[in-house]
Amino acid sequence: MEIIMSAKRFLGRKVLMTGAATGVGNVLMHQLLAEGAIVVAGDIESSIEKTASDAGCVGVVADISNAAGCRWLHEAATAHFGAPDVLISNAGFIVPKPILETSEEEWDQVMAVNAKALFLLSKLVIPGMLEGGRGSIVATASISGMVGLGSQAAYCAAKGAIVQLVRQLAVEYAANNIRVNAVGPGAIATPFLDRYIDAQPDPKAAEDAVRAAHPMNRWATPQEVGNAIAYLASDDASFVTGHILMVDGGYVAR
Ligand SMILES: NC(=O)c1ccc[n+]([C@@H]2O[C@H](COP(=O)([O-])OP(=O)(O)OC[C@H]3O[C@@H](n4cnc5c(N)ncnc54)[C@H](O)[C@@H]3O)[C@@H](O)[C@H]2O)c1
Repeated sequence: MEIIMSAKRFLGRKVLMTGAATGVGNVLMHQLLAEGAIVVAGDIESSIEKTASDAGCVGVVADISNAAGCRWLHEAATAHFGAPDVLISNAGFIVPKPILETSEEEWDQVMAVNAKALFLLSKLVIPGMLEGGRGSIVATASISGMVGLGSQAAYCAAKGAIVQLVRQLAVEYAANNIRVNAVGPGAIATPFLDRYIDAQPDPKAAEDAVRAAHPMNRWATPQEVGNAIAYLASDDASFVTGHILMVDGGYVAR
């Protein structure tokens, strides 16, 4: 794996992160550990326990779409290392449908995994950050939170909610030295993208269309998105708050 940052920016930092079993979160977990962080990594997939333990951190099976799951994850983290310095709210889930085909249950689930989890986890970690006098929260938003995209009714709404909650929290807690930011990825080569493309009527045409929609004519590696999250979470971004860092090959610049 290619890790371009060499400094140990997270030495001793206590990181609580979600969506670490696969994709961006998994690559990021390894990067944070390589940079000295103490990590508690959550995911709904039971594989997280072994994946995290093999990497040298604690993995917790938790469904962060509801308050009980977020509490469970936060309690595991505080039992392991005390109050988190860093929250990375990265788990995400898409139902690739237009509004007329989206059920109420699908809407609620997409909003819960993406947006409500940031709300719930922020409520859990902010008191400890206030007490500690510092904190950094990074959420994974999307190009779908910045522009309207077809067949993504609930997902666009959920990622848009993340963008605005990030800005609101940033303003609310800036004076307390708690920074709140998000990354806004375009397409990323992860199982999430595979599932999205496979769900399209013509997967090959969809793959070509997704790639061509990005001015750089490709999609991101998970590491490229992980690098941006790590930057925002670290002291390298010490005067950056309320920012949505697009990692999209120029997608929203058009
Ligand atoms: N892959 C893309 O093209 C793309 C583009 C823009 C944004 N994103 C966002 O990037 C983030 C990371 O996704 P990825 O591409 O690495 O996909 P991924 O599917 O590989 O990883 C997402 C992880 O979230 C976990 N997760 C899903 N629901 C959960 C729940 N209820 N509780 C706990 N964990 C849960 C999954 O098990 C998985 O490990 C997500 O927020 C996604 O919305 C992805």
